[in-house]
Amino acid sequence: MRTASAPLVFFLALLVASNAFNSSPAKRPRLLAISTPSTLHAVGRDLWIPPSAPVDSEAALRLTLKKSLEGATFKKNLSILGSTGSIGTQTLDIVRAKPENFAAVALSAGRNINLLVEQIKEFRPVCASTQTPEDAALVRSMLSDAGVKCEIYHGIEGVDEVAKCEEADTVVTGIVGAVGLQPTMSAIRLGKDIALANKETLISGGPVINPLVKEFGVNMLPADSEHSAIFQSLQGCPPEGLRRVILTASGGAFRDFTKDELFNMCRDDPEAVQKKATTHPNWDMGAKITLDSATMCNKGLEVIEAHYLFGASYDDIDIVVHPQSIVHSMVEMQDTSVISQMGWADMRLPLVYAVSWPQRLRMDYKPLDLAEIGSLTFKAPDHSKYPCINLCYAAGRAGGTMTAILNAANEAANEKFRDNVGLGFLDIPKLIEAAMEGAREEGLYKTDDVTLEDILAGDEWARKFVEGRTEKLVKGQEKKILV
Ligand SMILES: *[C@@H]1O[C@H](CO)[C@@H](O)[C@H](O)[C@H]1NC(C)=O
Repeated sequence: MRTASAPLVFFLALLVASNAFNSSPAKRPRLLAISTPSTLHAVGRDLWIPPSAPVDSEAALRLTLKKSLEGATFKKNLSILGSTGSIGTQTLDIVRAKPENFAAVALSAGRNINLLVEQIKEFRPVCASTQTPEDAALVRSMLSDAGVKCEIYHGIEGVDEVAKCEEADTVVTGIVGAVGLQPTMSAIRLGKDIALANKETLISGGPVINPLVKEFGVNMLPADSEHSAIFQSLQGCPPEGLRRVILTASGGAFRDFTKDELFNMCRDDPEAVQKKATTHPNWDMGAKITLDSATMCNKGLEVIEAHYLFGASYDDIDIVVHPQSIVHSMVEMQDTSVISQMGWADMRLPLVYAVSWPQRLRMDYKPLDLAEIGSLTFKAPDHSKYPCINLCYAAGRAGGTMTAILNAANEAANEKFRDNVGLGFLDIPKLIEAAMEGAREEGLYKTDDVTLEDILAGDEWARKFVEGRTEKLVKGQEKKILV
């Protein structure tokens, strides 16, 4: 509880107590009935929840102003989970560029120990962790040869130690997957701010993370482009000034196809669909996300993340397709004024903001040139063409463990499709929907007193379900669910 004063704690407690976070069943539509979000925005905010990002309250405004007035002379100690991955290495680039503002005091890596050892030698953290005990021993001996002191841990407990590092005040969660949940919770319990780059944290863990963020008074700072854009656009927004969140989407591989063209191609030429779905029209961003862009499941998942970050009800979060990916997302205020954040599609920008918020550090990135871009275009996403979008809204509205189930089912189906085992493109949403229905029947869907164990159980069950169902599908035993 570094930042909260007594009246502030009282204010937060009131917020939690009075809000619909664990809303009654009557308020929470029991649904897998899939509907498009309404275009008429409710004036009432009774389906909003307390946000985990520092926005939308008097407390958030006071904190932002106080930190802003302190000036850009801050010094922050970062703990970086996933230091050898793309988020981790880019965070270390920022530390390297701004040593007066940042130090890397704890690093956790996977199996890339050569890079980890280089990072330890350069940044001199107090502790680090590897995946296996063998790697930890190897790193220790490499460091002692070089005369460098650093405590080395390993395994899941090792990641937890790095997240809990006493010297760290902010934890950058660049680690991928549900394994990021426990260390993030440990960091929050010790009052550390989170620069959020692990999507499972809120998409799967929202029901346990959001209350924890409030309890310990930490700041959840989005480090991905869309949510950072929303967060940036909300700076200075008065309490309850926000009316609607508008996420922009590149549209993925099939953005120029009509629904009929896409569905016919799935029937007539599945191989061409396979190839196109795994190639991103704008940039190379990794196989999993490229396919998630093609199904637009990535945007549906971001809707869920936006709900937990900014508190907006699912009726008040919309998606607009924006092929140029320059406007990174927008917010609509109560008076209908829309504020957006723009920039080149560059992951470093949201990362810098997450670790320096609310300050603005001078960086020598290429400035945005709107004249060079010429035109920005927008169109509505076709929900019937992208069934994953509605599934995400449905899972979000169902709440509780359902979003963890949806996320895990998507991840498993995504992987199976890329493995080219014979799964159709349109089988992906069908598998997700079947997992969501199966989870209800099997008792894995819970909305009351949800624990981390419930979330991990739902995640594990959904993966197994999709794997089993895929096997049957591919063997042709359940042809009827194929298109
Ligand atoms: C930041 O880390 C350094 C060690 O690198 C330590 O001396 C200092 O006390 C830390 N600051 C805080 C606020 O913990």
